[in-house]
Amino acid sequence: MPKLADEVGQPSRCEAPPDAIAGPDHPDRSHGLGRALVGNFYLVAKTLGMFDPANVLSKQAVTAFLGAHRDMLAVEGEAVMRVSADCLFVNETRLRIDFEGFAAFRYIVDALKDRQIGAVFFGPGLTEKDLTVFLRLFHEHDGRRPEPRTGLVSALEAAKVEGITIGEPWELPERPGPAASDTNVKAASVDTYFKSIYVARQFMQNFRSGHGATFQRVKRLVHTIVDLVAQDDSTLLALTQIKDFDNFLFTHSANVCVLSVALGQSLGLDKDLLGKLGLSAMLHDIGMTEIPREVLTRAGLTAEERKLYERHPLLGARAILRGQGASEASIRCALVAFEHHLHEDGAGFPTGLARRPPTLMSRIVAITDFYDSVTTPPPSGEATITPEDALRLMVHGGRDVFDPILVKLFVNTIGTHPLGTMVLLDTGETGIVHRRCSDPGEPDRPRVKITTDTAGQPVPPFVVDLNEWDDQRGAYRRSIVEAMAPSEVFSDIIDFTELL
Ligand SMILES: [Fe+2]
Ligand SMILES: [Fe+2]
Repeated sequence: MPKLADEVGQPSRCEAPPDAIAGPDHPDRSHGLGRALVGNFYLVAKTLGMFDPANVLSKQAVTAFLGAHRDMLAVEGEAVMRVSADCLFVNETRLRIDFEGFAAFRYIVDALKDRQIGAVFFGPGLTEKDLTVFLRLFHEHDGRRPEPRTGLVSALEAAKVEGITIGEPWELPERPGPAASDTNVKAASVDTYFKSIYVARQFMQNFRSGHGATFQRVKRLVHTIVDLVAQDDSTLLALTQIKDFDNFLFTHSANVCVLSVALGQSLGLDKDLLGKLGLSAMLHDIGMTEIPREVLTRAGLTAEERKLYERHPLLGARAILRGQGASEASIRCALVAFEHHLHEDGAGFPTGLARRPPTLMSRIVAITDFYDSVTTPPPSGEATITPEDALRLMVHGGRDVFDPILVKLFVNTIGTHPLGTMVLLDTGETGIVHRRCSDPGEPDRPRVKITTDTAGQPVPPFVVDLNEWDDQRGAYRRSIVEAMAPSEVFSDIIDFTELL
C-alpha cells in the first residue's frame, strides 16, 4: 500500500474550513453520519428533480433525509454541508470520496460550486416542506442564472423557508486558466475533468427532458480540455482511470472525450479539429439516454434487448440533428454518434449500411470508446479487463475492428501501463505511473513516482525513469512486475489526484 501525499507531509488541497473546530472525538462515527447525510441529500435532490413531491419515491427520499439529519443533530448538534475546491465537509469532517461511490459527492460539490454556494445549514427546525421547497428552488437557481446564490437566498426568504440557510463560498473554486507551471496545469486538469462529468450529465439530462440543451457549455469545456492537453495531458489521462458504473454514461463521456483529444493530438490534428473531435466524443453515446437503464446495466441481454441497445447510434444521430439543427458541428457529432460502433471491415452496428469506411473522427472514438468501456467494472463487481489486456486485445485481435495505425498511436499515447496506474517494481518499490516514457518507442517503460521504498516504507514521492539502464548489471534499473488500478489502492479519490 503506497504512502499517500498527506501522510508524507505534502500540502493537501483539502484543509478544514476556517470556522471548523478541532477534529471530532469519533472520526469514524462522524464520517458515517456525514456520508448518510450526503448520500440521502443526493437521493432526495435527484428524486425531487424527477418526481412530484407527492410521489411515493419522493416521500421516501424526504423521510430518509430527515432521518439522517435527525441522527446527525443528535450526535453533533449541527448539520452543515460545506464545499471547498474538490472537497466536501459535513460539519468539520472531510468526507472521503471513494472510487465506486463518488457520484453523490461530485453531484453535491458541483451543484454547490455551480451556484457559488459555500455551505448549506440544515437547522433543528427543518421540516418536510422546507426541504421540498428548498430543493425546488435549488433546481431552479442553477449556474445558468447570473447570481444564482443571491437569487436563491431571496427566493428562500420569500417562500419562508427557515429550516435551511445557505452560506457564501469560503474559498473560491479554482478556475482553469493559462498555466504558469505544472502545478497549475495539474489543478486545472483535475477541476476540468470533474467539471466535464458534471457538464456531460447536465447536457444529457436536459437533452432527455427536452429542456433546451445547447452545445455552448460543452464546447467551452472541450476547448479547455484541448488547451490543457496541449500543455500537458498527463493528469487528464491519469484521471480517465476513474470509472463509475452508476454514472457510467457521464464519466464514460468525459473519459472518451479526453482520450480522443489526446489521441487526436498525437495524430497532429490542429486545435480547431481537436475541439470538434472532443465535442463529438463527449456526445457519442447521447442515444443511450433513450435506452431503458435496465438494458444498459445488465449482462446477458435477450436478443430483443440487444437489438434495442444497438439502436443507440441511430437514436443519438437523430436526436442531435433534431435538437441542434443541421449545422456543421451537429452533422459531425451526429456522424460520430452514428458510426462509433462500426468496424473497419464494415461489421459492427448499425447493420445493413452501404459499405463505406467510417470517418477519421469516428475511428478515433471507436478506439477510445471500446477501451474505456471494457476497462470499466460492471456493477455486479465481476472481474474486469485490465488496461494492458484491453490494449493487447485491440492490437492483436482487433485488426478488422479498429484502424491498426490509430491503435498503435493510441498505445503510444496512453502507454502500456496507463498514466495513473499503481505499479509494483522488481526492486520492491511501489509507485504511480506519472509520465510517459522518455523514449516514445518504449511505451512500457514510463516514468514512475515512487511512494514506498524497497522495504515497503513510505517515502516522500520522487520520480524515476524506468528507461534507465544499469551498465553494471546489464539490465534496466527498475521494471514493472505488477500493475493495479488506482481504485484497488486508494480509498479516496482526493489522495489519488494529489499524487498525480
Ligand atoms: Fe456507444
Ligand atoms: Fe460509448
